[in-house]
Amino acid sequence: MSSSAVVKYPKDTVLFLQGEMGESAFIVEKGRVLIYLSKDKEDFPLTVLGEGEIFGEMAILDNQVRSASAKALDDCELIPVTKEMLLERVHATDTVVRLLLRVLLKRLRSQNDLVTREPKKEFFSTQIVQQEDIEAVQKIKLESRLKDAFNNREFVMYYQPILDLKQDKIIGAEALIRWFPPTGEQISPAIFMDVIESSALMIPFGRWILEQCFKDLRVIQEKKNDKKFSLSINISGKQFIHSDFIDEVENLRTLNSLEAQSIKLEMTERVMMDGTLALDTLSRFHDIGYGLSIDDFGTGFSSLQYLFRMPLDNIKIDRSFVRDMLKDDKALAIVKSLIYLAQSLRMKVIAEGIEREEEKSLLKALGVEQGQGFLFSKAISLQNFLTLVSNKK
Ligand code: CMP
Ligand code: MG
Repeated sequence: MSSSAVVKYPKDTVLFLQGEMGESAFIVEKGRVLIYLSKDKEDFPLTVLGEGEIFGEMAILDNQVRSASAKALDDCELIPVTKEMLLERVHATDTVVRLLLRVLLKRLRSQNDLVTREPKKEFFSTQIVQQEDIEAVQKIKLESRLKDAFNNREFVMYYQPILDLKQDKIIGAEALIRWFPPTGEQISPAIFMDVIESSALMIPFGRWILEQCFKDLRVIQEKKNDKKFSLSINISGKQFIHSDFIDEVENLRTLNSLEAQSIKLEMTERVMMDGTLALDTLSRFHDIGYGLSIDDFGTGFSSLQYLFRMPLDNIKIDRSFVRDMLKDDKALAIVKSLIYLAQSLRMKVIAEGIEREEEKSLLKALGVEQGQGFLFSKAISLQNFLTLVSNKK
């Protein structure tokens, strides 16, 4: 710590008063600090803080006035911690953590109130009012529902055909999860996968997804008598950075006697941002022979650096661009540039969200090799998928 960050305060300095606005918290470098409440000229000591302790953080965290006063009991040295430094960290955390923080701060403030006055007869409550809090509570509720649903086997893998656009032939599928709660409405995977990915559930969940996918791919390949028929599996960042991930995938693959070439791992740009680890893991998968696709391309924090450095095979153009390209010149320009980029880097392009003949023709004309979308089929159960591919044989 550079000495310039330290501020000296002589003994008995009042550092701030209860009820004032706060611009920073402090770390005690030297000396003791008294935290106290005042009422009717009477002081109520709360605590004495020493070296290494932090105070004055509450007003910063909940953006309210100082909950107590602070006074130097000795000649003190303090290190101010700015509002920005603290809030930056708070904002980087999970909404549930932020909710807990707010609830605790509110409780502590109410507790302090009790010190200086007769306890009120009625209960005080930490009412949840902010939109962010409401969402955080919903997230916790959904997470515990998802845990039960997982144990009750309410999830099913569905398969959406991927076509070779030139030959008009199904050459693979993307595995997409579906949740069928026995009661209540269906919830979109976009919503529940978000919650799963942000929780520890992702590890058992991800393992289950892989098991289903590999088992089902084997069934599909046997039915089609085609070892090359490919399955694209979406991989989350949590799975990807797990140290056993490659071994897990390899074990399942050999167990089901599948060729690595028939498995495509789909990852968003976000997953790949994780620097050297990502590069190392991707390279190992690539060397074994797995296909690697970058998903939802163009919607995330794209950095051409990644494309350039990572051993990727496919770019998946996000459905939003495909949907808009016929009516919006800018979307079309993006589609064209992505195709050009992919071709220059010798990557295949897979277009998502093809819903109309015109979209298919245009993409084909622009050189897109593969596509998926409602024009061909939505995601369907394994049974229906097997029927579909055997009819088309
Ligand atoms: P802040 O509200 O910014 O300013 C007063 C500080 O006193 C507060 O942050 C805490 O760091 C500290 N503080 C408030 N209440 C208590 C308490 N009950 N016990 C110990 N420290 C407290
Ligand atoms: Mg995908």
